[in-house]
Amino acid sequence: MPTYKLFLLPGDGIGPEVMAEALKTADLLGQIGVAKFETEMGLVGGAAYDSHGKAISDSDMRLAGAADAVLLGAVGGPQWDSVAFDRRPEAGLFRLRKDMDLFANLRPAVCYPALADASSLKREAIESLDLMFVRELTGGIYFGEPKAIIDLGDGRKRAVDTQVYDTHEIERVGRAAFELARKRKNKVTSADKHNVMKSGVLWREVITALHSHEFADVTLEHQLADSLGMQLVRRPTQFDVIVTDNLFGDLLSDVAAMLTGSLGMLPSASLGAPDPTTGKRRALYEPVHGSAPDIAGKGIANPIAMIGSLALCLRYSLGLDEAADKAEQAIANVLAAGLRTADIARDVSAVVSTAEMGAAIRAELRRLLA
Ligand code: IPM
Ligand code: MN
Repeated sequence: MPTYKLFLLPGDGIGPEVMAEALKTADLLGQIGVAKFETEMGLVGGAAYDSHGKAISDSDMRLAGAADAVLLGAVGGPQWDSVAFDRRPEAGLFRLRKDMDLFANLRPAVCYPALADASSLKREAIESLDLMFVRELTGGIYFGEPKAIIDLGDGRKRAVDTQVYDTHEIERVGRAAFELARKRKNKVTSADKHNVMKSGVLWREVITALHSHEFADVTLEHQLADSLGMQLVRRPTQFDVIVTDNLFGDLLSDVAAMLTGSLGMLPSASLGAPDPTTGKRRALYEPVHGSAPDIAGKGIANPIAMIGSLALCLRYSLGLDEAADKAEQAIANVLAAGLRTADIARDVSAVVSTAEMGAAIRAELRRLLA
């Protein structure tokens, strides 16, 4: 049985609660002989700041770099609102993304039939929804310099963020999107604001050239990012793979997430470039939802996005496609059987806890893999 090293960063808020369910799911895979996991646990976000004053330590960065994959829960919370910008919980996430060069952020948005009525859109609009966001994650306005608040000296200040993209940054995330589309419905929609932004002009130019040189077999469509936002709520099933920059991807993937009924459902994978000799890519897996401080510690958070993130890890980092498919199937089956955590429940009397949802998914996964 293969052995893999997972580095776990539960983080803040509901992070530890949902991580516990992912860890038990990994343990189950060991018990039934799919793969063995060696796990180590580190600190990120507010938890790391409280312990040693930084959002992630150098030693935890080294462990993250040495693992086959990193699983992260969530970071942030109101108690760290006044912490200096470069030590804020989010800084831990940014360091992981940047230092590990995790430029391609995959955010699948799939509508489980059993949950179609939990969406704010009509069932007809989102039934059979299965789209994949590919968000550029290590460039653009999140990281561009200068990034500062400048004191103008006369009582006024000026804030600057810089949107900047180089050809290779657009090309590599575009390549990730086209490659994914080939395994799906073979269509990529690229979103930019080329009508306003120079970075958008280059974005469109590079994606178009990449398409004609390497991926002419894939259908490519360009949309303006604002219009794509409108189309996402108008007719979301028109999309297969959507590729866009860091900021647009942040905004639009939250919209896509909500189409599925709850942010609590959506996993994500952040991938680096494949190693030229081994083909392995650095990777971090995390739910799209945040730390949800309002419900932290209550045992009611939805663990599905975290367990779904483990499933993505099985698929994209470990090549355990069958186990990944079955983990996703187990989630779908448990939902179809009527289990609901509070965020997706319509009838509050029939709500299960984080632990109960996790246990039900594991029981179903055990059955599917037997
Ligand atoms: C996300 C989050 C982060 C982001 C926050 C926590 C900094 O919203 O992963 O989408 O903006 O990238
Ligand atoms: Mn976000």
